[in-house]
Amino acid sequence: MATVLAIETSCDETAVAVVRDRTLLSNVVASQIDLHRQYGGVVPELASRQHLEAVNPCLATALAESGLGWAEIDAIAATCAPGLVGALLVGITAAKTLALLHGKPFLGVHHLEGHLYATYLSQPELEPPFLCLLVSGGHTSLIQVNACGYYTQRGSTRDDAAGEAFDKVARLLGLGYPGGPAIDRIAKTGNPHAYPLPEGRVSLPNNGGFHPYDSSFSGLKTAVLRLVQRLQAESDQLPIADLAASFQYTVAKALTKRAIACALDHHLPFIAVGGGVAANSELRSQLTTAAQTHSLGVYFPPLKFCTDNAAMIACAAAEHVRLGHYSPLNLGVQSRCNITQVMDLYPSELRRSAEYS
Ligand code: KG4
Ligand code: ZN
Repeated sequence: MATVLAIETSCDETAVAVVRDRTLLSNVVASQIDLHRQYGGVVPELASRQHLEAVNPCLATALAESGLGWAEIDAIAATCAPGLVGALLVGITAAKTLALLHGKPFLGVHHLEGHLYATYLSQPELEPPFLCLLVSGGHTSLIQVNACGYYTQRGSTRDDAAGEAFDKVARLLGLGYPGGPAIDRIAKTGNPHAYPLPEGRVSLPNNGGFHPYDSSFSGLKTAVLRLVQRLQAESDQLPIADLAASFQYTVAKALTKRAIACALDHHLPFIAVGGGVAANSELRSQLTTAAQTHSLGVYFPPLKFCTDNAAMIACAAAEHVRLGHYSPLNLGVQSRCNITQVMDLYPSELRRSAEYS
């Protein structure tokens, strides 16, 4: 058994959680959305300062709500990559300080590995191999999970990530930030077939057709822009709900098609979805129906574990702790880091090492 306290500060949520293996003991999230909303997006310097203010109260609350004392915590983890460097530094510095103070092992965690395992918190019986459709503000990836720490990237985005496309189209439609939940909400009253939109495909070189798993959303975003300009020229009243529903339907269709093809082609029995866009109701509905048709399993985390949180980071860390993977105390933060490089965070000399004993 591994009981882990984890800190997540990679973007605009200060979060601390305590998890025992795949069981949640406490989960605190201090959202900065109201702070950044007035700027229409995350301001990195403001995010770092806000993390500094929020991290200690979040730590105190998470530990108190877990009902545990430091003696019962086996390891302390923090997201170390990818993300905003200043923001990541706050979390990782707090985690290392606590590790030193309480004589506990420290782990840096890859943010996307957290999203990969968010489903474990509600479906603890799941085990690799499986396919993860990771759809967040910064990523649209299809990742084959071979074993904890060992991943094969099957598909990625060539331009805008799915969440980024939601945020940009929401801004275009005057729906504010963050865009995904706003589009999801208003799309419920719209017609998803009102405006057929291009799904976006990625060409292979030398007339080799299209990449089966890569996504591209910039063409779709431009198509919505042109459509909005045309409709604005025709009338003062934009059909916002129909536009939102048509856009959301197209994104969900593109993601569903690629995820199903990838799982079938690589004989992966189920798809776990992670990241903020996993909260999207249309994606949930289309992917669930398609998976049933192809006898594939599909699992979505509860909404609170789709967007950034520390429970998923603690859950990923607990998987590594059980395998005896730890990080050195001089581990740095990285703004970019491919998921296939996760094991670099746990150098072989520290695996099952006695550095902290
Ligand atoms: O995973 P996440 O919280 O942060 C990143 O690691 O990026 O994802 C945030 C993204 C934002 O772009 C937000 O608009 C999107 O997830 N999002 C949604 C929904 N809820 C959040 N997109 C579509 N539908 C939603 N219901
Ligand atoms: Zn995230």
